[in-house]
Amino acid sequence: MPESVNRIYQGDCISVLRQLARRGFQAQLVFADPPYNIGYQYDVYDDHRDKQEYLQWTRAWVEAVLGVLSPQGTFWLAMGDEHVAEVKQICEAAGLHLRNWVVWYYTFGVHCTKKFSRSHTHLLYFVRDPKRFTFNDREIRVPSARQLVYADARASQEGRVPDNTWILRPPDGPEGTFAPEQDVWYFARVAGTFKERAGFHSCQMPERLLERIILACSHPKDVVLDPFAGSGSTLVVAKKLGRRYVGCELSPQYVEQIQARLKQTRCGDPVEGPQDPLATTPPSFVYYRKRLQLDRDELRQAFREVHEGYSLDRVLADPVLTARLSEECSRRGLPGTLSDWLRELLTMRKNKQLGVPTEKTFRLPAQQLDPVLDAAEVAMARLRARGWTGLDAVLCDPLGCWWFDRIARSLAPGGTSLEYRWAAIQLRKRARRRRERFKKASLPRLNLKAFPLEPESLKQVPCRPAVYALQDGSGKHTFYVGETVNGHARLERVLRTLDAWRAFVPSAKRWRVELAEVEKGKTDVVQLQWVLRRKPPLNFYGEDVLPG
Ligand SMILES: C[S@@+](CC[C@H](N)C(=O)[O-])C[C@H]1O[C@@H](n2cnc3c(N)ncnc32)[C@H](O)[C@@H]1O
Repeated sequence: MPESVNRIYQGDCISVLRQLARRGFQAQLVFADPPYNIGYQYDVYDDHRDKQEYLQWTRAWVEAVLGVLSPQGTFWLAMGDEHVAEVKQICEAAGLHLRNWVVWYYTFGVHCTKKFSRSHTHLLYFVRDPKRFTFNDREIRVPSARQLVYADARASQEGRVPDNTWILRPPDGPEGTFAPEQDVWYFARVAGTFKERAGFHSCQMPERLLERIILACSHPKDVVLDPFAGSGSTLVVAKKLGRRYVGCELSPQYVEQIQARLKQTRCGDPVEGPQDPLATTPPSFVYYRKRLQLDRDELRQAFREVHEGYSLDRVLADPVLTARLSEECSRRGLPGTLSDWLRELLTMRKNKQLGVPTEKTFRLPAQQLDPVLDAAEVAMARLRARGWTGLDAVLCDPLGCWWFDRIARSLAPGGTSLEYRWAAIQLRKRARRRRERFKKASLPRLNLKAFPLEPESLKQVPCRPAVYALQDGSGKHTFYVGETVNGHARLERVLRTLDAWRAFVPSAKRWRVELAEVEKGKTDVVQLQWVLRRKPPLNFYGEDVLPG
């Protein structure tokens, strides 16, 4: 029913859904956030009904939803405390199967003085068929506590499916912030000053919350239905994520505003809210936490015990060695977490107080390092954009490492964490030398080629050292400038992982390449020249990259 989708219907959802059912319309995912019958002010709907009348009405609209829910479809229902128990029973009696009772926890609810303030909403997750339903666990994983707290190298690199309590604000911990051991989502309720706030509806759901539901429970091109569209957030997020969408809304005024919102939204637009799908929580807790008084002798001993003769950088880059360090520090009763210990070790090294000699040199051969250099640089650029201050801040923070590896792996699959992280350390090291050479170097004359990033065009790219710019189809915008010892292999890999690159520049439909073959040993200097001239967003503008 193509004419029935990608639109918002103004009117009562029960009659709209019944009409759609008669036309054979089906939705794979329904997200419903009805009025909770708590006397809320909407412009048309009266949210003050007799309880039995409200439950009767709930029964009617749930049945209307079932009339359009596909046989393997999913139904999410948001509800307040007052009626959630009865509403769950209504849904089960209608034939739905509960998979999760998710609690969405938030702060900054309306303050109450005669009872505890409201700080959660129930999200009931039902499926129609308990054996056949969509649940894309890989789309919604978050780093596990095992990875974050213990930096445990045995933990799954993929992270874990979120818990069934969804925390959208940092809880008010003893230091007014949240601790690293909390595996939380750090994106906010849609408050008054937020960029994502549409401004005409005060029950607006956060885009990030809807993103999690839509990614987990539907596939691209599936139909997502919201019978109580409100501000239209469900439809907006569905459109961004490449789903088809249908909404119903009683209020003509809201409908007009939803239409305007949808018009401004394009498939591939980034989901609003501080959490980026590939780079989440700003590392604020690391910096807000009080500095611990650590026994440096104990810490030095712990490092001596585990470093296997290698430098502190190598330990930082190696998940096996950091996990051992974490165990050793805990065994010695040092207060704090791995981040505290690593940061203290870095400070000791900076002040020349580490006092543990490096006996072994660690090197990765060029054929192992070159294929992951670009991925390591982009990962750093992304984390910098999300608030991590530099490579040390990332490597000291298990959450930073998790996101760093995840981004790097998406762009250059098949590497190890040690390879990605070591590549970033090498980039930082080389940047210092490169800066000096850049100041002195006379730059070579270059023979530039430009071509679309397509398999056919790559045939003309030799397996030789090159500098290249990844650009949009028009060549006006450069996203990334790379250097490599093997232009052909590098671009072939970029082409293979183009979907992952696109996640960072969703607006670019077509990609093109500008490439110059460059004499061996000069690629890094030419890359720096191009970076300075074009300022591409996916290059790492670290303190180490830009000259002076
Ligand atoms: C809690 S709000 C939904 C908020 C929405 N989830 C958002 O993110 O903006 C409930 C909405 O349902 C609408 N509504 C109430 N009764 C309705 C009905 N019978 N059919 C369609 N919409 C209805 C109200 O006008 C209100 O905008």
